[in-house]
Amino acid sequence: MPAPDTSVFDTSVFGQDFRWGAATSAYQIEGAVAEDGRSPSIWDTFCQVPGAIDNGDTGTDACDSYHRWAEDVDLMRTLGLDDYRFSIAWPRVMPEGTGAVNRAGLDYYDRLVDALLEAGIRPNATLYHWDLPQALQDRGGWPERATAQAFAEYASVVAARLGDRVADWATLNEPLCSSWIGHLEGKMAPGLTDLTAAVRASFHLHLGHGLAAQAVRAASPGEVRIGITNNLSTCEPASDSEADLAATRRADGHINRWWLDPILGRGYPQDMLDVYGVELPAQDGDLATIAQPLDWLGVNYYFRQIIADAPGAAAPSFRQVPGPGPRTAMDWEVHAAGLEELLLRVTKEYGVRNLMVTENGSAYRDTLTADGEVLDPERAAYLEEHLAACARAVAAGAPLTAYYAWSLLDNFEWAYGYDKRFGLVHVDYPTQRRTIKSSGHRYAEIIRAHRAPA
Ligand code: FCB
Repeated sequence: MPAPDTSVFDTSVFGQDFRWGAATSAYQIEGAVAEDGRSPSIWDTFCQVPGAIDNGDTGTDACDSYHRWAEDVDLMRTLGLDDYRFSIAWPRVMPEGTGAVNRAGLDYYDRLVDALLEAGIRPNATLYHWDLPQALQDRGGWPERATAQAFAEYASVVAARLGDRVADWATLNEPLCSSWIGHLEGKMAPGLTDLTAAVRASFHLHLGHGLAAQAVRAASPGEVRIGITNNLSTCEPASDSEADLAATRRADGHINRWWLDPILGRGYPQDMLDVYGVELPAQDGDLATIAQPLDWLGVNYYFRQIIADAPGAAAPSFRQVPGPGPRTAMDWEVHAAGLEELLLRVTKEYGVRNLMVTENGSAYRDTLTADGEVLDPERAAYLEEHLAACARAVAAGAPLTAYYAWSLLDNFEWAYGYDKRFGLVHVDYPTQRRTIKSSGHRYAEIIRAHRAPA
């Protein structure tokens, strides 16, 4: 292999406290969906809907990390990671969603956390990465207030058990997807297409975030730092027509401001309340609960959005226009400058004081060579370009403290199934054999070079 070009960006701007990590989520990697008392989640149910998931794939086996976690921790150690962002499966811990606690489910995360700490890797635990217990969906799911209260109950149980060793907690991963894609577009669990349900779900996810933040702080034996991760996208107008500019403001409201304003104490954006025309199920004090103090904000970034008006389409009536850049296997445009722009926006416009990139990565059609290697120069280039964007943002004042690559492993990519591979580590599903890809080696090299500057 040619010598790596380390001149493309300078990581010294990150400082020596910077945390390098990788991320996964429970349903995407664990498998073992019916083991040790885990109950079905809305994703187990959604996977049974004909046509919902490419190739009819399901998360039933995934990467079998429920059994192979020790090997996965070894891989993290080999890569030299500082942090591991993973999620906890609510249906493992509280199979009915509330009430009875399943010790065996908690024990799994207990072992994982101990192994991480022993390997010198700091856990960053997400409480909800989309796998709602089906039992709660049967009682109405996120459109119902009781789900937010149940979430706090579950969060409290997890924090009481793990909060002596886990300091960093994210309440929710990407509530935009749970709400808009799950309840409005119907392309993710629970598969609804109902604006009222989607807006109510978004509100109760936010309320759940606030209640869970309070619960984790109250229940943890140790000191904790609470965050949330949002997927954000820069929105650019497809033309300078009035209609496209207005559509871009709606898109920005739908994708960014709806998710940032309330949790950062600004309430819900009035223009979007008007666009949706759905009354929020808010009660006295809810907005203050939602705006709990945050110790960090996680930004998940994959692509920008170029927006045009979509006359006649249902609210929020805009459409995405493909950009000119290269595309990944997801058909997502590669546009690293969008990450720089977003980090600076949340810094300047929202005054966020501690930012983490909690997900960023790319899918490509990786294959094993006859020599058992995976050569993925596009993914390494994607990684470098986005780290360079982070470095520019930091140089311009963004308080970025961590970068987590999505993903440690190839895994179950939701409605796209196993076909879309995002890992730094390749997984051969029939054998569950793991192979560090060349991009994974490159990441390890960047981390090492950062720690030991020339
Ligand atoms: C994000 C999700 C994550 C993964 C990546 C590709 O939206 O949080 O689970 O699917 O996209």
